[in-house]
Amino acid sequence: MNDMTIGLVGFGTVGQALYKVIGRAANAHASITKICVRSLDKPRDVEVPAGLLTTSPDDILSDPSINLVVEVIDNAEASFRIVSEALRRGKNVVSGNKAMLARHLPELMELQRATGAALLYDASSCGSIPVIRNLEEYYDNDLLLEVKGILNGSSNFILSRVFDHGEDYADALLRAQKLGFAESDPTHDVSGADSLNKLVIITLHAIGVYVAPSGIFVYGIPTLGDEDIRYAREKGMKIKLVAQVVKLPDNRFTMFVMPEFVAPNRYIYAVDDEYNGVVIRGECYDRQFMFGKGAGGYPTASSLLSDITALRHDYRYEYKKTAFTPRPVYTTDLPLKLYARFSTTDLATLLPWKEIREEYRSPSYRYVVGEIMLSDLLKSSSILAAADIFLCNIPYFFAGRDDLPS
Ligand code: HSE
Repeated sequence: MNDMTIGLVGFGTVGQALYKVIGRAANAHASITKICVRSLDKPRDVEVPAGLLTTSPDDILSDPSINLVVEVIDNAEASFRIVSEALRRGKNVVSGNKAMLARHLPELMELQRATGAALLYDASSCGSIPVIRNLEEYYDNDLLLEVKGILNGSSNFILSRVFDHGEDYADALLRAQKLGFAESDPTHDVSGADSLNKLVIITLHAIGVYVAPSGIFVYGIPTLGDEDIRYAREKGMKIKLVAQVVKLPDNRFTMFVMPEFVAPNRYIYAVDDEYNGVVIRGECYDRQFMFGKGAGGYPTASSLLSDITALRHDYRYEYKKTAFTPRPVYTTDLPLKLYARFSTTDLATLLPWKEIREEYRSPSYRYVVGEIMLSDLLKSSSILAAADIFLCNIPYFFAGRDDLPS
């Protein structure tokens, strides 16, 4: 077992929390000996010896005494350069950068194979919930059917405050930022992009297939309105931003991120504030549920620490499903049932509905409920960018699957 001599790249909310958490974890046998920051003079919550700080990642990459690079910056391309260079130099890496991973996982898998160095990233997905390592190890067989859940703490925090407490959307977003949950650009949280990045990573470990984020349908919560909340409440539902990857018949699978009406008998109904919840469904065990804090400095740092101590025991992802199980084929060729609310952008006529089941029209509020192909939603992105609309998934398709004998 090696002691971990760590070069830390990034010293924001998560980096500073990690600095404190490592100080508390006596059995980690890990010490941070260099920290790369953007600015030396920036005021911080933690005090560190000035000699530890540098503004150049090269000071970490070229230091032979550093055997582990922990990277928690928020710039995906800079992160990729640092992480790939560290691996090339034979250093193990722990990263929390979901945007970078979602974009570059195939190259990073190849780099790990070629260099023998390991890259761990449980902190990238669902904060403190150990979802990646569990998918990789416990679920290392072919029984898994579906992974579905709330993967972004900030948007869930906002939905909880708005939906359950009647608070204002903009105030709730500001609080999510102040509490250190949100990305530096919180658009990524509310647009669903952050959930999508995590879904890409989770899917690679759940079913062994990498799908680039650009090919996946994503719709977020910024246009959620009072009428949508009222509609959900009248039906006894909550609205949650849900990411899902689901196996389908004929060796296919689908994945997407969008708001969804969630009934009280679903596990994720009770997932509030910055918590995340992941439901894993399989052929013999039906459902299992993982729940925990999905955002914030300390929860994320606890996950980084777990990856650091795993590396002490030479743990690495083997990407077993990629290598050893039959890999299903990604499809968007399936119908979804949607609630689509609009005012001037006439979604009733602009979208290629397969079937409209319900239509409501008043001077200030119109909606349709109908079936539409996921592939057609993907093709309609310019229409769906309108500010006067809101889409919400009605999970009947998957509810149908729920009726199948397990
Ligand atoms: N901004 C992210 C979230 C942080 O709110 O979930 C954790 O990935």
